[in-house]
Amino acid sequence: MAELATVILEVIKWVAPPARSYVDNHRNFKKYAKVLRKKLRILEAKEDVKTRLQGEVCSEKQAKNEVVVWLQDVEKIKAEIQDVLKELPDVSYFSRARLGKRARKIIVELDDILGRGNFSEGLVVNKPATALPFGVENLEGEVSVKEKIRGYLTGNEVQMIGVWGIGGVGKTTIMKQIHDELLLMKSRFDKVIWVTVSHPLNVGRLQDEIAKRMNERLRENEDEQRRALELKEMMGRVKYVLILDDVWQRFRLEDVGILRPTVENGCKIVITSRKVDVCNFLGCEIVKVSPLSKEESLNLFLHEVGSDNLQAPEGIWKAMVEECAGLPLAIVVIAGSMKGVIDVHEWRHALNELRGRIRATAEGSEDEIFERLKFSYDRLQDSNIQSCFLSCSLYAEDYEIVRDVLVEQWIDEGLIEQSGSRRAKLDKGQTILNRLENSCLLENARFAGAVKMHDVVRDMALRLGPQSMVKARMGLREIPDEDDWTENLEKVSLMENEISDIPPNMCPNCPILTTLMLQGNSKLTQIPDCFFANMQGLKLLNLSETGIESLPHSICNLENLTTLLLCYCEQLKHVPCLAKLKALKKLDMFKAGIDVVPEGIDMLVNLQYLDLLCPELVELPTQILGNLSQLQHLTVDPCSTTLKITGEEVRGLKKLETFQAQLYDLQDFNNYVKSNHFKRLSNYQLVVGQVAEYFNLAGHLSKEISLGECEIGGEDSVVLPDDVKELWIYRCRKFRSFSDIYFLQKTTELRDCFVSECEEIGCVVDMVTPSSSFIYNVEQLCLDKLPNLSVVANVEGIEATPPHIFSNLRLFWMRECSRVKRLFPIELLQGLQNLEEITVEDCQQMEEIIGWEGEEENHTANATTTTTFTLPKLTELSLENLPELKRICPTRGVMVCDSLQELEIKKCPKLKRIPLVGNVRPSPPAALKMITIKPKELWESLEWEDPNAKNVLQPSLHFPTY
Ligand SMILES: *[C@@H]1O[C@H](CO)[C@@H](O)[C@H](O)[C@H]1NC(C)=O
Ligand SMILES: *[C@@H]1O[C@H](CO)[C@@H](O)[C@H](O)[C@H]1NC(C)=O
Ligand SMILES: *[C@@H]1O[C@H](CO)[C@@H](O)[C@H](O)[C@H]1NC(C)=O
Ligand SMILES: *[C@@H]1O[C@H](CO)[C@@H](O)[C@H](O)[C@H]1NC(C)=O
Repeated sequence: MAELATVILEVIKWVAPPARSYVDNHRNFKKYAKVLRKKLRILEAKEDVKTRLQGEVCSEKQAKNEVVVWLQDVEKIKAEIQDVLKELPDVSYFSRARLGKRARKIIVELDDILGRGNFSEGLVVNKPATALPFGVENLEGEVSVKEKIRGYLTGNEVQMIGVWGIGGVGKTTIMKQIHDELLLMKSRFDKVIWVTVSHPLNVGRLQDEIAKRMNERLRENEDEQRRALELKEMMGRVKYVLILDDVWQRFRLEDVGILRPTVENGCKIVITSRKVDVCNFLGCEIVKVSPLSKEESLNLFLHEVGSDNLQAPEGIWKAMVEECAGLPLAIVVIAGSMKGVIDVHEWRHALNELRGRIRATAEGSEDEIFERLKFSYDRLQDSNIQSCFLSCSLYAEDYEIVRDVLVEQWIDEGLIEQSGSRRAKLDKGQTILNRLENSCLLENARFAGAVKMHDVVRDMALRLGPQSMVKARMGLREIPDEDDWTENLEKVSLMENEISDIPPNMCPNCPILTTLMLQGNSKLTQIPDCFFANMQGLKLLNLSETGIESLPHSICNLENLTTLLLCYCEQLKHVPCLAKLKALKKLDMFKAGIDVVPEGIDMLVNLQYLDLLCPELVELPTQILGNLSQLQHLTVDPCSTTLKITGEEVRGLKKLETFQAQLYDLQDFNNYVKSNHFKRLSNYQLVVGQVAEYFNLAGHLSKEISLGECEIGGEDSVVLPDDVKELWIYRCRKFRSFSDIYFLQKTTELRDCFVSECEEIGCVVDMVTPSSSFIYNVEQLCLDKLPNLSVVANVEGIEATPPHIFSNLRLFWMRECSRVKRLFPIELLQGLQNLEEITVEDCQQMEEIIGWEGEEENHTANATTTTTFTLPKLTELSLENLPELKRICPTRGVMVCDSLQELEIKKCPKLKRIPLVGNVRPSPPAALKMITIKPKELWESLEWEDPNAKNVLQPSLHFPTY
C-alpha cells in the first residue's frame, strides 16, 4: 500500500490538476478530510457484504467476480484513506494542497466504489460443473495447481508450500489470486502477509516488510538478531499466512525471525521460486507450475495479438506459439511484438529467427524464457528505443513508474534526440513509451499514468543492459562497499533506500559510470568531498529528496555531467562553484533550500533547463541569464516577495518554451505579453504582485497568470494573452467587472477564473456591455471576499439574455460576497446546463440561489402552475452559513437535478423547502447518496417535494459534529 500511495503522490505531482485547482487547496483540504471520514463510515457500513458473502459461499456457490473485485477495491481505498488521514495533522503548506487533491481523487473513486456496492442481484453464482473454460483471467492459473495450494492451506498436513516453476510461467499470478481469496474468506488466518522478496535477499528489509504488512514496526538501529526476536514475537501473536514471492536464495526462517508454522499454531508459509533447491532447503512441499497446454497457448496468443487483426498464415503463427513452450509471459510478449505485422515474409522470417535462437539454448534452463523475450527486444530494432527500455530496470522490482517521470529520465539520460525543442523531446518520449507498451515489454500499472516491468522481463533487461548495480528501494542502511563499485559499472541505482551516511574517505573508482541515482535517501546528509573524484564520465546525477546540506567539491570537476537533479533537497545550503560543468544541460533545484544562486551558473552556456524554484532564494542577479542562450525552461518562485525578473531580461533567451516567474510590475507585464518573445512560450505561469493565499503552485505548468494589487480597472490597462488558461485576480482595487477588460474578448482558452479580495467589483459580467467572450468558455469561476459584489451577471436593462452565457461553466464557488442576494437570475439558467458543482459559503445577504429578476412576490402571486428548472449535470450543491437564504428556486418551482450526488446544507436557518427532484417526480434525485446537514435539527424542518423523501434518504444522511 505504501507504494500505491507513493505512486498516487507522484501522479499528482505530475498530472496537472485539471479542474478544481482552487477548491483543492489549502483551505478546503480540511473539508476533504471531513468528507473522507464521512465516506469511510458509509463504506464501513456497506461492508456487511463480506459477512453476507461468508454465509452464502459453499461448495456449490462462489462469489461473483464483481463482488470479489469490489471487496478488493474497498480494502485498497480504506488503506488509502487511513494513509491520507494519518498525514493530515502536520503537513506543510504545499503538501496540504497536494494532499487536498489526493483526497479529492479518493473521494471520486470512493463514489464509484459506493455506486458499485449495491448487489441487489445477489452475491454468489453457481460454481461451474467442470474446470473453468479457459478464460483470459485464468490464463496462467492452472486450476489443479490452485486446488492443490488451497488444499494445503486448509488442511493440516502441510505447513510450508513451495510453488515452483520457471520464470514467466505464472507463479506470481496464481498466488495473487489465492492471496485475494484469502483476504476475502478470512476463515482461518488473522493476517495474510504478502512480501515480494528481492534478490539479493536483504534480511533487514524482509523483516521490515513483514512487520509493515502486519501494521507493526520494528525498532531501527538494532542488530538483525534482536530484530529477529522482536519479529518472531509479533508473529506469535497472530495466526498468519505468509506469502514470500520470488525467493531466489536459501535462508533460515530463524535468521529473519519468521515464526515456524506448525500444526499447533495453524500458520502457513507459501513461497514462490524458480529454484527447486530453495524450496527443498526450506522444507516445502513442492507444487509445480507447468507451462500452458497447446490449446491454452493458442488462445492466449490470439487474445493478445487480437484475432481480428491476425493476418498471418495459420501454419506460421501456430508454429510460433509452439516455440513459446507454453510460457504465458513469452506468449504475451511475442504476440505483442508481432501485433500489426501483415507481411507473410516478415512472419516467416520472425519464426526462423525465433527457432534459431531457441535451438541454441538448453531446454529447461533459465535461458528458455530469456531467449524468447530477447526475441521481442531485438524486434524493437532501434537501439534508442532499446536503451530506453533497458533504463526502466533502474527502478525497483515491481515498481510502478509514472509515465512522465520515465520520459523525463530518458531525456535526462540523453537517450532522446537532444537537439529539438523540449516539447518535441517529450512527444518523442511518449511515442517510445507507447511502442514499448504495445510490444508488451512494459505493462500497464494500476494507474493510468504509470507502467511497470514484469520481474522476468526486468531480469532480462538487467542482463542485456550496460553493467549496472541496481539496489533500488531495498531498505539499505549503508552504501554498498567500495569493492562493489567496480570499474566497469555504467549505471548505479540506489534510489529510495535508507542510506544515512557514506564513509568519509570513500571514493569509488568508476571511470565509465554515466548514471548515478541516489534520490529518495532522505537520511543522507553528507557526501564525502572526494566521492565523485573518480567518476569523470558521470552524466546524470540524481540527488533529489535527500537530506544533503552541501554538495561535495568533487562535483565541480564533473565536466561531462549533463543533468544535476537536486529537487526537494530542503536542507541544501551550500553549493560550490559550478562554472566548470560546461556540459550541463539541466539543473533542477525545485524546492531546494539555497538562498543564493549557485556561483558559476552564468558560465553554463549549454543549459537548457533551469529550475530555481527555491522558496528561500532572495534574488536572481540580472547578469546571470545573459549567457544562457540555450535555455528552454526557466522557473523561479513566482510567489517570492523579492525575486522578480523583467521581460527585458528574458528576451535574449530565444529558445525559451516554459517560463515561470514574477514580473516586475504591470507595465513590464503588459510590454512583455505584447512582445514576440512571449508568443513563443508554450507554457507559462506569470505573476505580478502578491498572490492569493491558496494560489496554485503546480509542478506541471500550463498557461497561468496572476495579477495582484494591480490597477486593471480602466481601458487597455491590462494586456492578456489570447491563450491564457487560468487567471487569478487578487486585491485589484479598481477592478469592477470582467466586462471592462478589453483583452478578455480574445481569450478563447480561458477556463479557470479566480477573483479574490477586490473591493470594487460589483458584477462579474455586465450584460449591457458583454465584452467578455470568457463568459462562454469559462469552466470554473471562484469568487472570494468581494464585499461589493451584488450580482454575478447584471442583466438589468437588456431585452433578452443571450442563451449561452456560462454554457461551459462546470464549477461555481463563492465565499464571503456579502451583498449578493440572488445568485443566478432565471434568465441565466438556460446557459448553466453544464454546471456540476455549486458551493456558496458565508454570504450574509444571500436570499435565493435561483430567482426571478425583481421581487419574488410579483411572479408568484399569479402563478398557477409549478415552474420547472433543470440543472441536468449538477452533482454537488453545498450551501453553508447563509443566514438569510430562503429559497433554492422560486416558491412554486421545482428543480430537476437527477445527477445530484451530494447535498450539503449547513447553518441556513431560514431555508425550509428543498425543491430538488429527480427525473421521476416527486422523488428526490436518484443519485443522491450523501447529505450533510448542520445543525441536526434543521433536517426536521426541511420539506421535500416527496413526502416520503426523508425516509428514502435516511441512509445517506450525515450530521457532522465538527
Ligand atoms: C439497489 O438496486 C436495486 C435494483 O437495481 C434498487 O431497487 C435499490 O433501490 C438499490 N439500492 C440502493 C441502496 O441503491
Ligand atoms: C530524480 O529523483 C526525483 C525524486 O525522487 C524523481 O522525481 C525524478 O524522476 C528523478 N529523475 C531522474 C531522471 O531520475
Ligand atoms: C568526457 O567527454 C569528453 C568529450 O565528450 C570525452 O572525450 C571524455 O572521454 C569524457 N570523459 C570521460 C571520463 O568519459
Ligand atoms: C559569459 O561567458 C563568458 C565565457 O564563456 C564569460 O567570460 C562571461 O563572463 C560570461 N558572461 C557573464 C555575464 O557572466
